[in-house]
Amino acid sequence: MEAGDKRNRVPSHAELRLQPSVALHAPTAIHAPNTALTTMLLVLFAIVAAAAAQNEKSPKSITPHREQFRVIYEWRFIDFEWGSPEERETYLNNSNYIPQNVIISGINFHGDNLFLTLPRMLNGVPATLAMIPAFQNETTAPKLKPFPSWAQNKVGDCESLQFVQNIEIDRNGIMWILDNGRIGTLTQTPDPKCPPSIVLIDLKTGKNEMERIPLPAEIVNPNTTYLNDLVVDNRDGDYAYITDNSAVDPGIIVFRRDDKKIWKLRDKRSMSSVPEATLFRINGTTVNLPVNVDGIALGPQFRAEDDSIDRTVYYCPLASFHLFAINASVLRNESLGERSEGAIRPYVVDLGTKSSQTDGMKMDSTGILFYGLIGNSTIAEWNSTVDFRAGQRTIARDPNYIQWADRFTFDDRGNVYVVVNRLYNFVKNQVSIEEVNYRILRSHTGLKSYIYGEDLMPPGGHGQHGAGSIPKLAASLLLLAVAHLLV
Ligand SMILES: *[C@@H]1O[C@H](CO)[C@@H](O)[C@H](O)[C@H]1NC(C)=O
Ligand SMILES: *[C@@H]1O[C@H](CO)[C@@H](O)[C@H](O)[C@H]1NC(C)=O
Ligand SMILES: *[C@@H]1O[C@H](CO)[C@@H](O)[C@H](O)[C@H]1NC(C)=O
Ligand SMILES: *[C@@H]1O[C@H](CO)[C@@H](O)[C@H](O)[C@H]1NC(C)=O
Ligand SMILES: *[C@@H]1O[C@H](CO)[C@@H](O)[C@H](O)[C@H]1NC(C)=O
Ligand SMILES: *[C@@H]1O[C@H](CO)[C@@H](O)[C@H](O)[C@H]1NC(C)=O
Ligand SMILES: *[C@@H]1O[C@H](CO)[C@@H](O)[C@H](O)[C@H]1NC(C)=O
Ligand SMILES: *[C@@H]1O[C@H](CO)[C@@H](O)[C@H](O)[C@H]1NC(C)=O
Repeated sequence: MEAGDKRNRVPSHAELRLQPSVALHAPTAIHAPNTALTTMLLVLFAIVAAAAAQNEKSPKSITPHREQFRVIYEWRFIDFEWGSPEERETYLNNSNYIPQNVIISGINFHGDNLFLTLPRMLNGVPATLAMIPAFQNETTAPKLKPFPSWAQNKVGDCESLQFVQNIEIDRNGIMWILDNGRIGTLTQTPDPKCPPSIVLIDLKTGKNEMERIPLPAEIVNPNTTYLNDLVVDNRDGDYAYITDNSAVDPGIIVFRRDDKKIWKLRDKRSMSSVPEATLFRINGTTVNLPVNVDGIALGPQFRAEDDSIDRTVYYCPLASFHLFAINASVLRNESLGERSEGAIRPYVVDLGTKSSQTDGMKMDSTGILFYGLIGNSTIAEWNSTVDFRAGQRTIARDPNYIQWADRFTFDDRGNVYVVVNRLYNFVKNQVSIEEVNYRILRSHTGLKSYIYGEDLMPPGGHGQHGAGSIPKLAASLLLLAVAHLLV
């Protein structure tokens, strides 16, 4: 019954198999490898799109060569580092630990560790945030260590974490935790134990002290909110843009760390599920999940027409085939939060469609987006400097190993990670702990997270509009902007 059972062992240097490059929208069908899997492993093949056929200008590859994804960890069920075997047994006896009810959802990297979120959608989830080493060869199913501690994961203690769907770790080593406060979201009786909160931990201090910021019920209803995912924008006081996929009031919540101010922006057209995309067919199972705005990503800084610095925020409902974009400056405009639904509609851009639905997504520091295509067992990427309709690429496709790509993250050495969690089985309550249910895949790309994106210089320096040297400065800023675009 040990999750670390050697039967789960996956050699960390798996044989890789290269497949011909395919563009997502190329007419060629994308096949799974029909050669036998020589080991019990992975072999996420697939790869990198060569220059799209339509790119007649240059034969050179648009996408730099990518290493293939490989399985680094896999679990049949999640187990923990307990204080003692008796403690584990007590938790089991009291149904405070029900192994098949623990699902990995989110992932982040910091200081050689992977932080994993374990949302308490069902009962029997002893911790909602935990960590494992990112680099080790001892086991392929490491036990999870609750973070910051067992005590700070206690159900019903509002000084502790209750329900964490996702976290982000910003460029200053601050961990931003979305704690919904409400547990048992997939049970008959979801229980709003504590106020929905943002919890901050300054990882630099090594003390792991939690700063809890309860969110006001008028803006974030504890009965219905579902703080799903976030990006952090480390500018002007540090902002988080948070997707709230509440079934009754979906929106994007903006939180400014500086003064702890919060507001919510709504646009049903781009943030609600659409009927034609609520069915997911995957691995012989069909689930109906009319889930609203979910994945979110943040683009590099750019210089707008008025010389201000802006960034693009990308988002999509889970049950949708569209990817939407809005400028961060619009989300940051508090006065739009006070207005009614649709106030931001004129600023929302529909970038076009994907071939399937997407749960998590993550952007690198240069504007490359990684995302899953759930119904197609696919991991895709898009270089956001290219039109979305033409620029999407399949980088991995495998019906046996990519069974619901949930969240992505980057480490500090050029790897991208993705959690695969068979969420469709979980929501249907048909998880079998005799099978591998959770995997973490990794690929070396040489890229780093959007949080390390380049800082552009704010317009006008100190705002002195003197004569003389100004034209020169303006010209060099322009060059800088052009250089940035060309990078
Ligand atoms: C993204 O596209 C731009 C413009 O076409 C190109 O300069 C850049 O190298 C691309 N990035 C990657 C990682 O392929
Ligand atoms: C758990 O339950 C079993 C069976 O009822 C019992 O034998 C065992 O002592 C219990 N363990 C603990 C630590 O309470
Ligand atoms: C894991 O194994 C590889 C090669 O076998 C080795 O180079 C590496 O140092 C090992 N890493 C750890 C953390 O033990
Ligand atoms: C949440 O539900 C409880 C119980 O039904 C109710 O008393 C409370 O007013 C609700 N809170 C909000 C903000 O709607
Ligand atoms: C964002 O702002 C830029 C510059 O002001 C504008 O050109 C662009 O269309 C806007 N993008 C979106 C997604 O609204
Ligand atoms: C914020 O939005 C309001 C309402 O549309 C607009 O009048 C105002 O100019 C905006 N402020 C900024 C800084 O863009
Ligand atoms: C991709 O997924 C969509 C829906 O999720 C499905 O309609 C479509 O047939 C799939 N395409 C392929 C090639 O699997
Ligand atoms: C579902 O996935 C498992 C594990 O990869 C595989 O053995 C099984 O054949 C799949 N079932 C269907 C119906 O695709």
